[in-house]
Amino acid sequence: RTGSVLELTFGPNSTERAQRERLRDLAVFERVCSDPMRTSRSLAVKKFCRTISSTGIQASDIRPLPVLRETMDYLWHLLNSSEYPFEIVHDFIFDRTRSVRQDLSIQNLVNDQAIGIYEDVIKFHILSHQRLARSCQDSDASSLCYLNTEQMMKCLLSLFDMYHTIHKINSQSNKEAEYYSFFVLLHMGCKIPKMANSLSFWYSQLPASIVRSKEMIFARTILRCYHLGNFKRFFCMIADEATELQLCLVEPFLNEVRARALMYLNHSGYKLQHHPLTHLSDILMIEELELEDLCRICGLEISRSGDTKAFAPKQTTFSLPTPLSKSSGIYISREIKR
Ligand SMILES: *[C@@H]1O[C@H](CO)[C@@H](O)[C@H](O)[C@H]1NC(C)=O
Ligand SMILES: *[C@@H]1O[C@H](CO)[C@@H](O)[C@H](O)[C@H]1NC(C)=O
Repeated sequence: RTGSVLELTFGPNSTERAQRERLRDLAVFERVCSDPMRTSRSLAVKKFCRTISSTGIQASDIRPLPVLRETMDYLWHLLNSSEYPFEIVHDFIFDRTRSVRQDLSIQNLVNDQAIGIYEDVIKFHILSHQRLARSCQDSDASSLCYLNTEQMMKCLLSLFDMYHTIHKINSQSNKEAEYYSFFVLLHMGCKIPKMANSLSFWYSQLPASIVRSKEMIFARTILRCYHLGNFKRFFCMIADEATELQLCLVEPFLNEVRARALMYLNHSGYKLQHHPLTHLSDILMIEELELEDLCRICGLEISRSGDTKAFAPKQTTFSLPTPLSKSSGIYISREIKR
C-alpha cells in the first residue's frame, strides 16, 4: 500500500501500538513475522475503544474519511482469507469495523462516502450471518451469531438515520430499498420479539418510493408467507427475486420452513397419498439427497418403490426438531433448484 493517504496507516497511534505489543494484544493479521509482540504501522488497525470520553480524544487519533474508506477496503479483503478459521477472521473485522464506525460517528460524518462505508459494514455482517449460521451447532458460534445480528441491527438503524439526513438535501443511496428490506427480513424467526409489532408503524414512516420498491415488497411478502406457512410462495419468491444478500439473511430459516412444510403435509395428507421426493425437492428447493437427510432428522420414514423414493403422510414418528439441527448442511443453492 502506497500513497500519501495510506501513509496514515489504519489508525493506531504509536501509543496504542506499543501498548498492544506489550500486552500481546495483536490479532494474527497484525503481527510481523507471526510475532505476537511485534506489529507495524502498516499492519496494525485501530481497535474499537469501549470507554471513549470526548475530552480524552486527540484530533490526530481520529481517522479522516479517506483513511476510513481505505481501512474498510483492507478489512473487506481479509474476509476471504482462508488461512484462518472464519471465527478468527470475523472477530477481527467485527472489532475493527466497530472502530471505523466509532471514528465516523465522533466526526458526525454523514455523506455518500460515510453511507458507503456503513453499507459495506452491514454487508460484512450479512455475509457473516450466513457463514456463522452454517456452523451454529456449537454454542460458541451461536453467541457469535447473536452478537453479529445485534451489531447488524445497530448499523442498520444508524444507516437509516443517515439516509434520513441526506434525504433532506435531496440526495439518496441507490441501495436504500435493499437495505431497508434487510431490516424486515431480520424479523424472521422473531429473534427480536418486541420489534415485530412495530413494523407496521415503521413502514408508515418510510418514503413511499421505498415502501413500493420491489425489494421491500419482496421482504414483506416473504415475512408474511413465513408466518402463514405459505411455503410454496415462500420458496418461489426466493428463487425468483432474492438478491444475494437477501438470500444470506433468509438462508438460516430455510430448513425450518421446509420442516414445517413436511409437518403440514404429514398432518393434512392421506396415508396412501405418497409424495415423491423428486417433486417435493422441487417445491422446497433442495437437493433430493439433502431432503432425505432432513426427513430423517424429522423422524420420517422414506418409502421406496423401484427408483422412486417417497414420503407418506400420517407418520406418528414425525417431530419437528427444535432447534432444527443446522449441522446437516442443507441449504438452498442458486445453482441447484431454480
Ligand atoms: C471473495 O470470494 C467471493 C467468492 O469466492 C468473490 O465473489 C469475491 O469477489 C471475493 N472478494 C474479495 C474481496 O476478494
Ligand atoms: C404426523 O401425523 C400423525 C398422524 O396423523 C400425527 O399423529 C402426528 O402428530 C403428526 N406429526 C406432527 C408433528 O404433526
